[in-house]
This record gives sequence, structure tokens and C-alpha cells, in this order.
Amino acid sequence: MRILFVASEVAPFSKTGGLGDVAGALPSALADRGHEVVVVTPRYGFVDPAAHTLTRLGSTVHARGESAVLLGTRLGNAQVYLLEHERFYGSRSAPYSDEHGSDYPDNAQRFAFLCRAALDVPRATGFEPDVVHLHDWQTALAAWMLRHEHGHQAWARRARTVYTIHNLAYQGIFPKELVPALGLPWDVFRYEAMEFYDQLNMMKAGLVFADAIATVSPSYAREILSPEHGCSLDPVLRHRARHLTGILNGIDDETWDPSRDSHLAATYSRRDISGKARCKAALQRELELPRRREVPLIAMVGRLAEQKGVDLVAAALQQMMGMEVQFVVLGSGQSDYERLFRRAERAWPQRVAVRIGFDEGLAHRIEAGADVFLMPSRFEPCGLNQMYSLRYGTVPVVRAVGGLEDSVEDFDGARNGTGFTFRDYSPAAMMTALQRALETYRDARAWRGIMERGMAEDNSWRNSAEHYERLLEALPSRHAGA
Ligand code: ADP
Ligand code: GLC
Repeated sequence: MRILFVASEVAPFSKTGGLGDVAGALPSALADRGHEVVVVTPRYGFVDPAAHTLTRLGSTVHARGESAVLLGTRLGNAQVYLLEHERFYGSRSAPYSDEHGSDYPDNAQRFAFLCRAALDVPRATGFEPDVVHLHDWQTALAAWMLRHEHGHQAWARRARTVYTIHNLAYQGIFPKELVPALGLPWDVFRYEAMEFYDQLNMMKAGLVFADAIATVSPSYAREILSPEHGCSLDPVLRHRARHLTGILNGIDDETWDPSRDSHLAATYSRRDISGKARCKAALQRELELPRRREVPLIAMVGRLAEQKGVDLVAAALQQMMGMEVQFVVLGSGQSDYERLFRRAERAWPQRVAVRIGFDEGLAHRIEAGADVFLMPSRFEPCGLNQMYSLRYGTVPVVRAVGGLEDSVEDFDGARNGTGFTFRDYSPAAMMTALQRALETYRDARAWRGIMERGMAEDNSWRNSAEHYERLLEALPSRHAGA
């Protein structure tokens, strides 16, 4: 198959969360299976052409009087085109929001352009896809555009679309006045299309017009059909339930490999785990925590958003600090959560280390140096950190929701399980799981068993890519004449 993959962030060029990781790894995993994959994404201002050996190609794509130059590079066996457009992307220091965390006021225009420009890539390069794979609200409009703006092209009439929901909570909702400004006809402003409580909802374009909808775990695929997790789109999703599949993300097992991770003070593997203790000591030194081997080190890494269950941690913090533990947090996001953790660091300087910001290297060193990884998410479409933790022998304590439920098996007290899970969204339930973990930690053999089972798992993209391949191959064909 020829697959055109469109995403608003692609690691290592850009990343604000898991979408970047997925878009950076799935294309080449599909290419490794013999498909021809082209990825299209913006070249934001912070992407250094020299650092990524980007080649300026002669080709230009056009959309509604705007154009972008294509910069080419490879990601494994996939071809990548980064769109160079100074005003929309080049002048921005982050993909979606400014340094104060406010969304850019022209995001609707910026991502409508991404959709149209991506669909012009076949004309500009001669690569005519069989499948167009879209991700999250930023690229959802392309599902509508392919059907309504490309009818004159045979490839577009034949091509099928898959839309992957990475997070239903971010829908790209804009005032309806933008409908004409984006070059859309008022016909899209119906409940059966992109209208949503009298506003324009870009995600709906993907949910309504894509041939198939995927999301990033089987549990989340079930959960979003219910009002509790459906973010008001559950009626639309129930309507398309037959076309909705959950495919658990994989992890990039080359970037996240403790046996050759260049960010670490020492490397290790399941067979020889000794380097992990050195990683812990180095992490304690880096974070200026007392270097105590026997004290369990609990970690959190991620966006400090309501989704991640930070309020449970806030409510349980006092009780947590009553136990003999160290606690490290790396993240950024909501300012009240940032303040909360900074206060905790001041209150317990010997126990708590907090780093506000985005630090790829430190994220790796935390995965390697910590004993326990805490992820008490309110909801979690997939989650990648718990899978990195499994690979690094860092035992996850997670809420059994979404992809967390699908990737972490609760320890049964004997020989089964890779972590500790809890179901109720309450500080008490979280603490019960954490206490079970800490008790087990004192039983070195049981703990070692949990670590080894986690490290032995294969959560690489190979499995997920195979699932996606089956989904793409099962799409009913469209006839160019139809
Ligand atoms: P989400 O996409 O909801 O943010 P995921 O678990 O899928 O959650 O992916 C988050 C990704 O972003 C992981 O690769 C994680 O390591 C990374 N990440 C999140 N916050 C930070 C941070 N502050 N510093 C470094 N990496 C981070
Ligand atoms: C989203 C979700 C996260 C998922 C990631 C990649 O940001 O919040 O759970 O792992 O996308 O699919």
C-alpha cells in the first residue's frame, strides 16, 4: 500500500506528547512491512534543518493562495516532507501555543492549511496514496477535503481514509464565523457534519467522513462510546461504532532501550540488571536527593493536566510523604499543578524533586533510575510512559483505564503481573495500590519477578503496525469512477 500519513507533530522534529512519538515511529514500522509511506508535517521554527539533514526540494504545494516548500528527509524507511511556511509554522516556537501557553489565534487556519497542503503532495511529488492516515483534530479536515475538493483526481476518488483519535478531549472547536474564512461551504455546518453546539468542530470531520476510525487502545475504543468518556461526541461515535477499532500504540524500542540508551549513566538489560542501581544513584545525585539505594524512588513524567490524575496525587501527597519514599516529578502544564509540586519540593526537600519543563534526556534518566512509575490518569487513551517503564524495569502503578488497563497487568501476589493497578478514581484507591507496591518492593525476589516480566514484554511497534496493516487492508475499496 501507498500510505500518506499526516500529523501536526512528528518526533524527532517536533513533539508535545505521545502523538509525536507515534507519528515518529509508526510510519517506518509500516514501511518496514513493505509499504510505501510518506509523512507530511509542518516545519516549525524550532526545527533545525542542519540537525536533521533536511533537503530543500524543488517542489511546492499550494492551497487557497498560500504555498509551502517541501523539505525532505527520511525516518527509517519512511519518506518525510516538512512544510516550510514562514507565517504559519516557521515563525512559531511551539506547535500549538505561545510561551504563555495560549493557543495561537490562527490555529484553525494553520491546520486547515496543513490538511490542504498535504493533499496537494500527490500532485507535487507524483506519490499517489491508496490510504490517507490522519491524526487528531489538526488533520481531521483532510477527511472531508479529500472527498469534496479532490473529486477531479482519480487517486483521490480511490483513496481511503483512516482517522486515529489520540485524545478525544482536544477537538479543535472554533467559532462558526471561521467556516467561510477556512474556505468551507456552509453545508459542513450541520449536526451530521462539523457543527457542534453552534460551533465548528474539526475532529467531527474525521469522525464523520473517514472510512475507518482508529483509536490508541481497545479499552479507550470502548470507553469513548459512553457519555463518561465520550466528551459529548459519544453519540457520533456510537453511530460509527462499526467502523471504530482500538489498536494499542507501540513504543520505539530503539530510542527507549536501557541496554544502549545514551542518556544514561549506565546501561542494563533483563539479563544483567546491575546498571539500574547506578542509574538510580546518578539520578539521586542529579536531583540532589540523598543517595539511598534502599528507599523506593517514585516517579511521574508527563503533561501536568487534569487528564493525568494530578489531583489524586495532590490529595494523597501528605500521606505519601508519611512513607519512606523519594518522589520525582518532571512535567509542565497547568500552573496550579506546577505550583503544587514546587511547594511540595520546598516542604520536603530531602524527599521530593520537581523539574518543571520538557527535558527528553531527564525523562530517560528518570525511567531508568526510578523504582516505581506512578500514572493515576483520570482517562488515558493509550499512554506511553507506562510502556517505557516496563521496558526499563520500573514498576508501573496505574489506574486501570484506557491504554493503562491494556498494558499493565496487576500483580497477583505470586507469579503473575507487571505492575499495580487500581480502578476507583480516588486518592484512597491510588494509595492502596501504591502501598501494595511498596510492600512488595521489600520482597526483593517478588519485585525482581515483576521487573523481569515487564522487561520481557514486547511492546514495540511491530505488533501495532501489523494491526494497522490489517485495518488498512480490510478497508472496502472505492472505485475511481464512483
Ligand atoms: P500524552 O500524549 O497524553 O502527553 P503519553 O504518555 O502518550 O501522554 O506521551 C507523552 C510523551 O511525552 C512521552 O514520550 C513522555 O516521555 C513525553 N513527555 C511528557 N512530558 C515530558 C516532559 N516534561 N519532559 C520530557 N518528556 C515528556
Ligand atoms: C494522546 C493521549 C495518550 C496517547 C498519545 C499517543 O496524547 O493522551 O494517552 O498515548 O496520544 O497516542
